[in-house]
Amino acid sequence: MKVEFYGHVRQYHNIKSEIDANIKEVLESGQYVMGPMLKRFEGELAKYHGTTFAVGVGNGTDAIWLTFMALGIGPGDEVITQPNTFFATAEAIWIAGATAVFVDCDPKTKCIDPAKVEAAITPKTKAIIPVHLYGQCADMKAIRKIADKHKLYVIEDNAQGIGAHGDGFKVAELSDATATSFIIQKNLGTFGDSGALVTNNEKIDTAVRKLRNHGSNQRNVHSFGFNSRLDDLHAGILSAKLKHIDAWNDLRRKWAGRYTAGLKGAKNFTLPSERNGYRHVYHLYIIETKKAQQRDAFVKFLNDNGIDAKTHYSIAIHHQAGSPWGKGARIAGSVSNAEQNAATCVSLPIFPELNEQEVDHVISKCLEWDNGQK
Ligand SMILES: Cc1ncc(COP(=O)(O)O)c(C=O)c1O
Repeated sequence: MKVEFYGHVRQYHNIKSEIDANIKEVLESGQYVMGPMLKRFEGELAKYHGTTFAVGVGNGTDAIWLTFMALGIGPGDEVITQPNTFFATAEAIWIAGATAVFVDCDPKTKCIDPAKVEAAITPKTKAIIPVHLYGQCADMKAIRKIADKHKLYVIEDNAQGIGAHGDGFKVAELSDATATSFIIQKNLGTFGDSGALVTNNEKIDTAVRKLRNHGSNQRNVHSFGFNSRLDDLHAGILSAKLKHIDAWNDLRRKWAGRYTAGLKGAKNFTLPSERNGYRHVYHLYIIETKKAQQRDAFVKFLNDNGIDAKTHYSIAIHHQAGSPWGKGARIAGSVSNAEQNAATCVSLPIFPELNEQEVDHVISKCLEWDNGQK
């Protein structure tokens, strides 16, 4: 049996009529960039998050650095994040010209450790970017407290956690802005690239709206800006998919629960840790091998058995060749939890359209490998 890592085509087939109808509507409208479908989707996205504003942009990375630019964060400023995240979190800091400050993650959730954040703050610190890694919210209450105490901005990197919430807080509730990505791999993904930010801050909304459109919100009138727009075809696809995101996340949680129940007796894995009161939406289901030297052999065993297991992210950002490429970077204290995560992480296939046979096949192959270890 083969088990794929993604279910994009299955998902398309399941809601083909809704996606096709929206694509047709855009094609027939004659308006493909900054048109009515984008406006509609931005309204739906803001409503979904309970925010006043949503701005569609070209991708999730742009959503982060356009927000920095709107807030005046750039050269000479420090932004705190974690080194065990997708590269783009730090890349956005560098694109803005700021210094990336890496602090360690919590050993269980793998999200940024608030205690380490406070210790890394200097007079140059301007912002914190917590990442809702793998689909579980960072400890936003603790982060907000630190940010208030030190007068820092908080920008949530929610590329992986649409539909997640924490214990008593929603995504986008405790931050200045929240960036998300709609690249196809994400829980809410289009057939290509795009992203958005959601915010209650009118200044950020107005500034990013201009910046994404060549510095213009009025025909022929420009200031410095970029081209980073979410086009209407993608907005139409996302509008159709947004209606299903909660049900899809429920399915992700169901498969995650089945993996956890099936693997809990295994000796060689650490399973994902879900915080009480949090809704983890399992963008990724990550287990860790107990020993770093086991990891690559385990992934190869799964791949050889038709299971498309991967790693997210097996090279921490500060360990990428040549890092930091002359850009500003600082590692604040030990980041050993993040490094351990990079060395041991294994991503099992998870997507809503999996079936029980596939999940049980993955579990049985994991257990077979586990039993074969000394
Ligand atoms: C945590 C995280 N941040 C940022 C991004 C960047 O998003 P994009 O690829 O849309 O630029 C991604 C995904 O790609 C991500 O996983």
